[in-house]
This record gives sequence, structure tokens and C-alpha cells, in this order.
Amino acid sequence: MYPIQRNRRLRKSAALRSLVRETTLTPQDFIVPLFVVEGEGRKEAIASMPDYYRYSLDLLKKEVLELWEMGLRSVLLFVKVPDGLKDNTGKAALDAEGLMQRAIKTVKEAVPELFVMTDVALDPYSIYGHDGIVKDGKILNDPSVEVLAEIACSHAQAGVDMVAPSDMMDGRVFRIRQALDEGGFQDTGIMSYSAKYASAFYGPFRDALESAPVAGRNIPKDKATYQMDPANRIEALKETQADIAEGADIVMVKPGLPYLDIVREVKDHFQVPVSVYQVSGEYAMIKAAAEKGWLDHDAVMMEQLTGIKRAGADLIASYFAKEVVSLLG
Ligand code: PBG
Repeated sequence: MYPIQRNRRLRKSAALRSLVRETTLTPQDFIVPLFVVEGEGRKEAIASMPDYYRYSLDLLKKEVLELWEMGLRSVLLFVKVPDGLKDNTGKAALDAEGLMQRAIKTVKEAVPELFVMTDVALDPYSIYGHDGIVKDGKILNDPSVEVLAEIACSHAQAGVDMVAPSDMMDGRVFRIRQALDEGGFQDTGIMSYSAKYASAFYGPFRDALESAPVAGRNIPKDKATYQMDPANRIEALKETQADIAEGADIVMVKPGLPYLDIVREVKDHFQVPVSVYQVSGEYAMIKAAAEKGWLDHDAVMMEQLTGIKRAGADLIASYFAKEVVSLLG
């Protein structure tokens, strides 16, 4: 009680504050999302994601070497699929020589020790921009899950360490685990996007991959029938519990900042590593405000990521990973 207890005593100097600090970011906290494109010598800017790029395989190789040098240990790969390869079945995703499969091999060859994860979803391959097969105005669950399981095996065959299904179909973790085991890929892990919300914060990402749901008759205009309602909390626990029971090694909450209550709850409820995806819209907001001179870019970036870790994230997928590590020095 005051005056014996003076809380400010522990804030007296930078040295003391660093001694009693409860949450510290390190390079090992991060998963670096990477966007890959066909071609050579390509480093393409993304309008709604300043300072972030899509890389062709040759430059991807350079990029992962740099990440490793910086102390970053994990990447999450996404591909931008040429329009001509898109359909309503995702069959281009199964091509052993497809862009994703080549990207996995490129990264593994460049830095064998780097932990490589891949996004497993149909949307970059879908002419409709959906995470599943579309029929009669609906996103089909079970047929989509079958394709996702095949995609996961194809990535495993190419050498991925862990697959990250981001589709939110029911039962996909179970089916992917089963397919991986049957294929002899017992050691390939699953990081499941477990509590993934139907969020408007994914906008810039969909620009980056040109994967937004398309407008059309009988095509759902958003992902609300499979991604979660932002208003729901209990459902997040139900989804996470199911994914763990089905065989997920790591679970994820996504987006980050607007869902930190969910992060804390998932962390407290379950005994598995929890990852958080600080998504494209969260990144874009900081970049835009900083560009206008309205916010201090680095300070806000560190504060938000510290908040995500404090809320319970063991791992953070973030477009800021490199900038944070540079700042940490
Ligand atoms: C694909 C996928 C999305 C993101 C990760 N995987 C977009 C979506 O579900 O529409 C979003 C990532 C981000 O916004 O940074 N299923």
C-alpha cells in the first residue's frame, strides 16, 4: 500500500525497466510470410502493402538467405497463381512442378535448416477466389477437404516441414493428417488456422495474390459461410479444440490485434503452441498512418507485436518480421 509500495520505483531507469520486462520480442518468435511469383528477376511491389514484395524463385532464394543471416528461422509460403491456371477444382495446386512445389525446393536447397511452412488453400487457384470448390452458390466442404489433403501431400513430397491449412473447412485437419500419414509423411506437421475470422483485414493480402472472391451470380461475395463471425468467442474455442483433436501441432488465431482476447483464451485453454497472424490489413494500417506522419512507425510496430506476444502468442506470422529484427539489432 502507498506510500510503502510505490509502483514507479520499478520504472525508474531504462536498465531497471529492462530487468523487470515481462515480454521481449526475439527473431525466433517470427514466421515470415513470403509471396512467390513466376518469372525471373522479379521483385514486385504490392500497392496496399508498402515495402513488401512478391519474389520470383531466384530472388526468393536471395531473400531466404538474408532472413537466415538475420536470425529468422521460419517462413510461410504463398504463391500468386497465373490466371490461366485457375479453375474450380484446384488441380494446378497438385502439380509436382507447380510454383509452390518449386518454391519449397528452392528454399530448402538454399537454406536446409530454415523451417518451411506452406499455406494450404484453394483460393489462389480458384477462379472464384474461394477456399473451396463452389457449386450452386455454396462452398462444398467434403470435396474441398479431399483436394486440400492432396495438396498437403504434394507439399510434403516437395519437402515442406509443416503445412498450414487456412481454408476453415470442417474436418480438414483430420483428413490432412490421415493423408500425410498414409503417404509416409508422419513427420510433416500441421499448423492449423483454427480460429480464423471472416475479416476485412485480409484485403491487402488478396491484392497481393489477386485472390479476392469475384463478383458473380450465385458466387458468395464473401467467406462468411466458412470463416468465423468476428462477434464470436466460444466458437473459437470449439474450432481450436476440434483442430487439436484432429491432429494439429500448432493452432492459430487470425487476425491478431482485434482478436487478442481470443489469443489469451486459446493460450489459457490448450496445451499446444499458439501462433498469431498479424495480417496484411494490420500491416497496411501502420504503413499508411506512418506515411502520413500520423504515427511513429517503429514504435507502433513494436507496441502491437509486443501486445500480440503478451496476449499469448508463441509464434507470430508478421510482414514486419525483418524490420523488427533489424531494429532489435
Ligand atoms: C488464404 C489466406 C488468406 C490469408 C492467409 N491465407 C486470405 C483469406 O482467407 O481470404 C490472409 C493473410 C493476410 O491478410 O495477411 N486462405
